[in-house]
Parts: sequence; structure tokens; C-alpha cells
Amino acid sequence: MSAKIGIFFGSSTGCTERIANLIKEEIEATGAATCEVMVISAANAKLFPNFDFLLFGGSTWNIGELQDDWGLTLPTLGNQGLKGKKVALFGCGDQFGYSNSFVDAIGLIGDRITELGAQTVGWIVPDASYQFEFSRGVYEGVMMGLPIDEDNQAALTPQRVANWTHWVLEEFGLAPAAVA
Ligand SMILES: Cc1cc2nc3c(=O)[nH]c(=O)nc-3n(C[C@H](O)[C@H](O)[C@H](O)COP(=O)(O)O)c2cc1C
Repeated sequence: MSAKIGIFFGSSTGCTERIANLIKEEIEATGAATCEVMVISAANAKLFPNFDFLLFGGSTWNIGELQDDWGLTLPTLGNQGLKGKKVALFGCGDQFGYSNSFVDAIGLIGDRITELGAQTVGWIVPDASYQFEFSRGVYEGVMMGLPIDEDNQAALTPQRVANWTHWVLEEFGLAPAAVA
């Protein structure tokens, strides 16, 4: 039986929701797992234990603040369903408009779920195509998840999603065998 992945997102104008569905398509195309995509809420968080692995996506608003669904839900989360779980993070932001708080939500969500016992995976070193000044998601040059900028760099999104998704599957131990 293939693994089950839950993709939980918060999105105000639909960007993070689109990325969540792109990631689902990318994962399911490999045959490595099946994915369910749903909004993050206190009620849906009760479903965490149903999944082998989790992906959390959230955008950043109001200069470094969580998007509303995450803003409401993150403080309600306990460690139930997160302790020992591998969780990969992604988020949408605007690196030119908000260069000093680019995708801060990745760091805000990541820090909290780490306190709750989750193991974050899918960290990446942002390549030269990113030009932001600061993000709460970055520790010693490494971003805790996938930053997406549909406001300025939509053309780069498909490749960023594809590369990152395959890296995450590897970290979940679900990477498809390399073709010889
Ligand atoms: C008032 C306002 C504040 C914003 N603040 C930030 C921010 O601090 N950091 C960031 O990366 N993006 C910021 N953004 C950009 C949004 O996060 C971006 O448009 C994102 O794609 C929205 O994703 P969503 O539709 O999934 O909510 C802001 C946008 C607006 C209009």
C-alpha cells in the first residue's frame, strides 16, 4: 500500500492553495504516495494521525504575520499527531514587496511545530534566483521549506515545486528508484 500524505494549507488569495495542489499532482505522478489536500483548521488538525507524512503550506501577510487560517489554528495545536512526525513546509510570499519578511510564515509555523515534536524536512538553500533580504524561515543560510513567489517569479514555480517535491519524497523515504 502506498503512503498517505496530508497537505494542509492556509491561503487568502489562492496562491498557496494552487501550490498545494501542484505538489499533490507531482507526488501522485511518482506513484509513491496518495495525497489529501485540505485547509488548515483546528477541526482538520485532528486528522494529522491519519497520515504517514504531512505537508504544511502558508502564506505571509501584514508584514511577517501568519495568514488567517494558520493564525487561528497554530496556537490551538498540541503535540498530538505531530510528535515524531516528518513535516515539510512551503509558503507563498512577495520577495520584492516584503523583502525583510519574505515567507516568514515558514519560520513561524516551523518553529512552533518543532517545539511540538515534529521533525521538519525539505530544508533548502535558496539559490541565486531569490533576492530577498531576510526571512524568519532561514537559519544559517538554509530555508526551512520551499519559498514560492507567484507575485514576481511565477515562471520559476513549476521547476521549484518539482525539484523540492522530489527532495521531500527522498527525506520521507519514498523516493522512486532511480532509473538506470
Ligand atoms: C498587505 C500585504 C502584506 C503582505 N505581507 C507579506 C510579507 O510580510 N511577506 C511576504 O513574503 N509576502 C507578503 N505579502 C504577499 C503575499 O503573501 C503573497 O501575495 C502570497 O502569494 C499570497 O498567498 P495566498 O493567496 O496563498 O494567501 C503581503 C501581501 C499583502 C497584500
